[in-house]
Amino acid sequence: MKVRVGIEALAFAVPHRYVEIEDLARARGVDPNKFTQGLGARQMAVAEPGEDAVALAATAGRRLLALGADPSKIGFLAVGTETGVDHSKPIASFVQGLLKLPRTMRTFDTQHACYGGTAALMAATEWIASGAGAGRTAMVLCADVARYGLSTAGEPTQGAAAVALLVSESPDVLELDVGLSGSFSADVHDFWRPVGRRDALVDGHYSMECYLQALAGAYRGWRDRALAREVIRPSEAPTSEQLARVLYHVPFCKMAKKAHAAVRLAELEERAGGPLDEAALAAEAPVAAARFASQVAPSLDLCSRIGNAYTASLYLSLTGLLHAQGAELAGQRIGLFSYGSGCASEFFSGVVGKRAAERISAIGVEALLERRERVSIPEYERILSLPPDAPLANDPPEGEVRYAGTVDHKRTYRG
Ligand code: HMG
Repeated sequence: MKVRVGIEALAFAVPHRYVEIEDLARARGVDPNKFTQGLGARQMAVAEPGEDAVALAATAGRRLLALGADPSKIGFLAVGTETGVDHSKPIASFVQGLLKLPRTMRTFDTQHACYGGTAALMAATEWIASGAGAGRTAMVLCADVARYGLSTAGEPTQGAAAVALLVSESPDVLELDVGLSGSFSADVHDFWRPVGRRDALVDGHYSMECYLQALAGAYRGWRDRALAREVIRPSEAPTSEQLARVLYHVPFCKMAKKAHAAVRLAELEERAGGPLDEAALAAEAPVAAARFASQVAPSLDLCSRIGNAYTASLYLSLTGLLHAQGAELAGQRIGLFSYGSGCASEFFSGVVGKRAAERISAIGVEALLERRERVSIPEYERILSLPPDAPLANDPPEGEVRYAGTVDHKRTYRG
C-alpha cells in the first residue's frame, strides 16, 4: 500500500525587530517605490546577535512541540541552514539539547544555500516513504539570518526566520507527491559567502538568471513526471495552470512574479516551436498578470513582511498561503519551487490537507508579527554593527531561545 507522507504541522519564529522598507529607502536616498513596487518588499526582519540560526531554529522547534508534536515519536531531526555557527557541530545537535529531544534519533544539518531546507525535507520524506522511519516522525527545521551589508544592492533583500516542519504519515497540512520532483543544479558563482565573512557576496542580476534557468529545468522535470503519472493532463494552456497555487523561493517578492511569468512563457514557446512574436507576447502579458494574481500573490504576504530568510523562505510562503487560503485550498494540488544559489533547485508538488487551515490557525501568525518592534534605520545599523558575540541585552521572551555567549569555546544558549 502507498504510504502517505508530508507535512503534518508547522510553526515559525521571527526576530523581534523589523524595519519598514520605505524608511530604509529614504535613508539610502532611493525612491521608496523601487523597494516596494520594484522588489515587492514592505518590511524586513532585523536579527540581533542573540537571534542566531540556532536560537531561531530552537524557538520554532519548541513552538512545533507546543502544537502537539510528540517528541518521543521523532526519529529524525534535520536542519537546513546556510548560516550555521560552527564548522563541525550541527545546529541539529544544539536544538536536540535545547528541546530535550530523545537521543534515539538521527541528527544532522544540510547545506546548499537556500535549497538546504528542501534537501532536509526531501531526506525526511524519503526516510518515511522508504519505511526506514517505521512509523516515526521527522522534525525539519529551516533557519537563517540573511545579511548583505549596509548600502549594497542586496541590503533591502535581507531578513531572518526559522520554520519548523513535522513530517509524518499523517500529512494534515500538505501531502507530498513523492517521486515527482524535478531537479536542476549547476556550478555557478551567483551568490556565496566565503568562510569567515558574515555578509554574503552576490552577483545580483546574474543570480536572477541562474534562478530562472534552474526553474526552467526543474519545472520541466516535474511536469514530465507528473504527465507520465497522469497527475496532470496534457492541455492547450500552460500546464502550470493545473496547479491551484505555485509557491516560489522568495529572495524578494518580485522574483516570484518573474518566475511565474517565465514558467508560462517557456511552455508557450515550447508549443510555438520558438520565441513568441510581438502580438503573442502582448496577448500573454495580461493573462500572465492575472495568473500571478490568482496563483502566486496569495502566498507572498508573510515574505513581504519578513524579507529573505534563505532556507525558510519557501516555507514562509507556504505558511502565508495556508494562513490566507488554507480552507479553500483543501484537497487541491499546489506546486513548490526551491532554489539555492551555487546552485541547486527542485520543483515539487503536494495536495493541501483537509486540516491545513486548522493547523495554521493554531500558530497565531498575526500575533507573532504584531508583537515585533519597529526600529529606526540608525538603530538597525547599530544592531548590524554589533559583534556576533555581543552580550544579551535582556532575558529572552517567554518560550524563546537566545545565544548567551561563548564559554571555553563552547556556545551557550538561554531560554
Ligand atoms: P538593483 O540592481 O539595485 O535593482 O538590485 P534594479 O535596478 O534591478 O531594480 C529592481 C527593480 O525595481 C526593477 O524591476 C526596476 O525596474 C524597479 P524589474 O525591471 O526587475 O521588474 N525599479 C523601480 N520600480 C518602481 N519605481 C522606481 C524604480 N526604480 C527601479 N523608482 C537586486 C536588485 C535583486 C539585484 C539586488 O537587490 C540584489 O542583489 N539582491 C540579492 C540577490 C537576490 O536576491 N537574487 C535573487 C535570485 S538568487 C536567490 O534567490 C538565492 C538567494 O536567496 C541566496 C541563497 O540561495 O542562499 C539570494
